Amino acid sequence: MRKFGLIGYPLGHSFSGKYFREKFHRESIEDCAYSNYEIPSISALSDILKDPELNGLNVTIPYKESVISFLHKKNQVVEEIAACNCIKILNGELTGYNTDVIGFENSLKEKLRIADKSALILGTGGSSKAVAWVLKKTGIEYLFVTRNKSLHDGRITYEELSREILESHPLIINTTPVGMHPKTEVYPPIPYQWIGRGHYLFDLVYNPSKTLFLEKGELAGARTKNGADMLAIQAEASWDIWNKKGKA
Ligand SMILES: NC(=O)c1ccc[n+]([C@@H]2O[C@H](COP(=O)([O-])OP(=O)(O)OC[C@H]3O[C@@H](n4cnc5c(N)ncnc54)[C@H](OP(=O)(O)O)[C@@H]3O)[C@@H](O)[C@H]2O)c1
Repeated sequence: MRKFGLIGYPLGHSFSGKYFREKFHRESIEDCAYSNYEIPSISALSDILKDPELNGLNVTIPYKESVISFLHKKNQVVEEIAACNCIKILNGELTGYNTDVIGFENSLKEKLRIADKSALILGTGGSSKAVAWVLKKTGIEYLFVTRNKSLHDGRITYEELSREILESHPLIINTTPVGMHPKTEVYPPIPYQWIGRGHYLFDLVYNPSKTLFLEKGELAGARTKNGADMLAIQAEASWDIWNKKGKA
């Protein structure tokens, strides 16, 4: 049996297990299994890695950065952004990749307009690094928005979001878990009254499919997109990496 899985905490919101189980069934892949490893601390990864049948892992909230210390090798994107969401395990050697980058890039462009030249990235965690990497590559300027008042290099706080800042940043990307199942009644604290038809609100959250963040954007006439396509694209990219012959 070739085993794969997802590490993170909590994992109640995650569709990854369902995605891979359906894929294995649909494509008659019988020698593979995909499990959730809900670990309250990254140190618990050591025990999971003892399984000789484990071939690959996805990594989600909150371990995309802390998992780096377990890797023997990193691809160039992981080197650059220090965030990893996909690990290939070959002969006990762990190589880190970032397929969020591929998922976000391909998913974003569906509704992207030429005028979307600057973005606000809500949150400064693991997936925000992948988002920033893609925006830079695409030629879109960005500003991080954080709860943390002491982080002031290229970042602002939610309290500092003015009308001028909102109106000059048509793209707003939620990389926080705010609004994610089961706490669906909350939303990122941005001044929604200044969002309009020129905006594009992208939420990495996909459960629920329409968060309050997206609902508020939709009400203001903005373009909106959730993280469901991104999830599917990054999952398929992980599968390709795990099955690439020879190379780790
Ligand atoms: N669709 C997909 O394929 C996909 C891919 C990746 C991630 N995601 C989703 O994206 C979300 C973030 O994942 P992640 O791995 O980047 O998590 P993470 O590393 O824990 O980072 C999340 C960031 O959000 C901010 N944050 C956390 N709790 C918050 C709160 N209560 N209020 C406001 N801000 C808060 C924090 O930034 P500050 O401390 O700077 O405020 C934190 O660094 C999760 O919901 C995950 O499921 C989806």
